[in-house]
Amino acid sequence: MKSEDLTRRFVEYFEDRGHRRITGSTLLPPPGDPVLFTTSGMHPLTPYLEGRPHPLGRRLVNAQRCLRTTDLDEVGDSTHLTVFEMLGTWSLGDYEGPVSLDWGYGLLTEGLGIDPGRLHATVFGGDGQTGPDTPSLEFWRSRGVPVELTVEDNWWSNGPTGPCGPDSEIFLWSGEGPPRSTPTGDQRWVEVWNHVMMRHRRLDDGTLRPLPQRNVDTGLGLERLATLLQGETSVYDSDVFEPWRRQLPALWTLDERDRRLVYDHLRSAVVVLGDGVRPGNTGRGYVLRRLLRRVLTVLVRDEPSRTLGDLPGEPVEHTLDHFRQDMDPGEVRRLLLDEERRFLRLLERGRRVLARPRFHGPLDEEDFHYLHDTHGLPRDLVESLRSTP
Ligand code: SER
Repeated sequence: MKSEDLTRRFVEYFEDRGHRRITGSTLLPPPGDPVLFTTSGMHPLTPYLEGRPHPLGRRLVNAQRCLRTTDLDEVGDSTHLTVFEMLGTWSLGDYEGPVSLDWGYGLLTEGLGIDPGRLHATVFGGDGQTGPDTPSLEFWRSRGVPVELTVEDNWWSNGPTGPCGPDSEIFLWSGEGPPRSTPTGDQRWVEVWNHVMMRHRRLDDGTLRPLPQRNVDTGLGLERLATLLQGETSVYDSDVFEPWRRQLPALWTLDERDRRLVYDHLRSAVVVLGDGVRPGNTGRGYVLRRLLRRVLTVLVRDEPSRTLGDLPGEPVEHTLDHFRQDMDPGEVRRLLLDEERRFLRLLERGRRVLARPRFHGPLDEEDFHYLHDTHGLPRDLVESLRSTP
């Protein structure tokens, strides 16, 4: 099943159950939001989870693109991407958690044909402030799905304060042979769908207050589930990366981790550009610049003649089409090349500065700060320049 079919099936399934689709899913949060990029499906819905009536009603469904840079160091493993899509559903003070879990279970098993024996759930076991999530536990027991109880892993919040609550996560076995162990005990259990009983608000002093309504907020990782449904174990082997996989290896020979980083960051850069962000030294523009610099660092480290000018058009067009962005691919290319020129100038400066005797020995934190603040040289670039002859 192609990822786009999965999105369609998901949305239709919930429309059949009274949900209305929210359109518009840019990476840029609504005006006034201090966060740079949308990091989860619920993010743009925060005011409605806090009680403001939503114009489309109490049951919503959406496909929301998200960008997370907190996971940058995990990019390159099999499941983490910087830009990914979250298929989400919301009950804004309408149905409760077990109904949501029941629909989730129904879509995965009957709707998408997943063997129930490959599922595992996790449920909040309770802490000093909040009791265990017994309704979720009872639901999974009634379906014969094994459950693991955890505390921190089953509490979801979007930051230190604001809406939060216990969650129940659904994992799918990705290994060969029969499932083993539990989600915290074996990484072959891949988290695909998180159902959050979003009914608390965390205040500045750390205490919890009930929200004005009892919500459910769910998020399913589109690329992860599509990968598993396509019989693969790495998101890079899913249809999302098909043109990248087909075209790039002939162009640049990279080891697996570098290849994944290049695919992920370049694709993310295209999406961020498509949502109207331009490279810069602050805020969103700086996130975009960092993504591109990480790509360029990898590319030119082994082979200085590599250039983004050689990037074929198809992966870029495929990405813009997938996210329904109407940016001209030629403009993307022009911006990538501008950024590359800027990076190469920085590299030149970096080499000159690092040739000074002061930087010949080991560098300490003060050196890294100085190189960054005075010469605009980020730490990963400095490390890369020092590790190459
Ligand atoms: N907010 C939850 C998450 O991001 C579910 O949507 O996982």
